[in-house]
Amino acid sequence: METKDAIKSRRSVKYYDPEYKISDKELDELLSLAALSPTAFNIQHWRFVVVKDQELRKKIRKVAWDQAQITDSSVLIVLCADLKAWEKSPRRYWKNADQEVQDFILPAIDTYYRDKDQVQRDEAMRSCGIVAQTLMLSAKSMGYDSCPMDGFDFSSVANLINLPDDHLISLCIAIGKGVTEAAPRAGQLTLNEIIIENRF
Ligand SMILES: Cc1cc2nc3c(=O)[nH]c(=O)nc-3n(C[C@H](O)[C@H](O)[C@H](O)COP(=O)(O)O)c2cc1C
Repeated sequence: METKDAIKSRRSVKYYDPEYKISDKELDELLSLAALSPTAFNIQHWRFVVVKDQELRKKIRKVAWDQAQITDSSVLIVLCADLKAWEKSPRRYWKNADQEVQDFILPAIDTYYRDKDQVQRDEAMRSCGIVAQTLMLSAKSMGYDSCPMDGFDFSSVANLINLPDDHLISLCIAIGKGVTEAAPRAGQLTLNEIIIENRF
């Protein structure tokens, strides 16, 4: 599938075939494609919690407005980020680079994030947004539908998945075989409204 077609045909699908299984091989492919998404300084701080335990999914659904996607999709990913990835052996993010590149970039990473909670959080949300779209477009190109979700109680889901203190949850993504079409697009703004030339 052409990228343009995946972009146009991706919609947030709410109802899935609960019997449909995505194979481990396909799931691997999907997550491997997602992991090629860009991150600042290549810190790859997204963490994909793939919720395979159906009992856990039922518990998440209870704190997610009873949304059917949570239990009925083939794959439920709680998309998290490690806020402290920038200081956890950062050399591995640049292990293939020349020594002089490493010598420049490693201190730069430290300076960029150290003692800057807001910067760390903003970066996590940026990266998760980008990887979420890569996941959804990859899913579409592999013949699957998806739904991005933030309609849940974040602290309850954090408890249910044992989220570490230095991580956050950005959003959930449900992926599977849709059984209903998405509703027609609800109301796209015109480009005139969303494009600003040069300055506000
Ligand atoms: C961050 C985010 C959170 C969302 N949360 C939910 C959700 O909890 N439940 C849901 O059914 N749709 C959710 N959506 C889907 C939006 O309603 C949908 O993307 C929007 O209406 C545009 O429709 P489309 O994705 O089909 O183009 C969410 C979308 C985003 C980007």
